[in-house]
Amino acid sequence: VNIDLYLKEKLQLINQELDHLLPEAHLEPQILHQAMRYSVFAGGKRLRPVLFLATLDALQKPADIYLPFACALELIHTYSLIHDDLPAMDNDDLRRGLPTSHKKFGEGQAILAGDALLTFAYKLMVLPGKMGASTSKLLAAIEEVTDCAGLKGMIVGQVLDIDAEKKDLDLDQLQKIHSNKTGALFAASIRSAAILTDCNTETMARLTGYAENFGLAFQITDDILDVIGDAGKMGKPIGSDQKQLKTTYPSLLGLERSKALAKEHVEQALYCLNEFSDSADPLRALVRKVINREN
Ligand code: IPE
Ligand code: IPE
Ligand code: MG
Ligand code: MG
Ligand code: MG
Repeated sequence: VNIDLYLKEKLQLINQELDHLLPEAHLEPQILHQAMRYSVFAGGKRLRPVLFLATLDALQKPADIYLPFACALELIHTYSLIHDDLPAMDNDDLRRGLPTSHKKFGEGQAILAGDALLTFAYKLMVLPGKMGASTSKLLAAIEEVTDCAGLKGMIVGQVLDIDAEKKDLDLDQLQKIHSNKTGALFAASIRSAAILTDCNTETMARLTGYAENFGLAFQITDDILDVIGDAGKMGKPIGSDQKQLKTTYPSLLGLERSKALAKEHVEQALYCLNEFSDSADPLRALVRKVINREN
């Protein structure tokens, strides 16, 4: 596969489907539907839905019917960004190259736009069941996303992340935060797709290993880019972590060791895919891109 073409096609597919599924901006109350669309269509790499679709491709399962499920993952991610940027959290003004939701719509409306994206995501995850997908597998996949976005993942990570501000953390504690706040939703994107294919436990374990390493490589790089990235290319401010006195990989290990560690996680993620055929090439390419990204 030509991976750049593959990713471009997936991106288009996801963006089209998001546009099709999200309530139109002119519906009342307009501020709500506008705010939902504002953050979703501000840009964004769509990594989580792409990973979901790439996992279905790796396991050679048709993806069409599950496109709304893929979009749900992006909505959950986007809600998490809106809330992450709030003054009570990271207090950032720029996201995906635009003023953050609370800068544009006010704090109350931003909180509610986030809530709406999260709840609407559940409607989308249910949709494949109405189109004929196996409901028992779908239920298991929804449970996986629920855990990873919530009490076994992202929420816990964000809670620990706030709690850790101004405190000294060791590497284990930092890894725990990163695995939860960022890794878990990546893991959900990959594992929920695997659940839908009914793969065996061996395959699930390998994909889980890939996902965990992907998540760590990704968030270590996010921390690195918060120090040396280009705010213009990133579409979000740099120096946000230092401003909030967060412990990060660069603050603990320095830049060079952080980069080396991110690379190690990429190698480990690739190793987890050793037994997979060419159909996993998109997954391989995606994790290689993670550490070389500029945004
Ligand atoms: C940013 O995620 C937030 C983190 C979990 C570090 P992305 O870098 O995937 O953001 P978008 O979706 O491309 O804007
Ligand atoms: C945020 O991590 C993770 C979630 C939104 C769950 P960061 O706070 O590091 O993300 P950015 O750097 O603001 O995108
Ligand atoms: Mg944060
Ligand atoms: Mg942040
Ligand atoms: Mg960050």
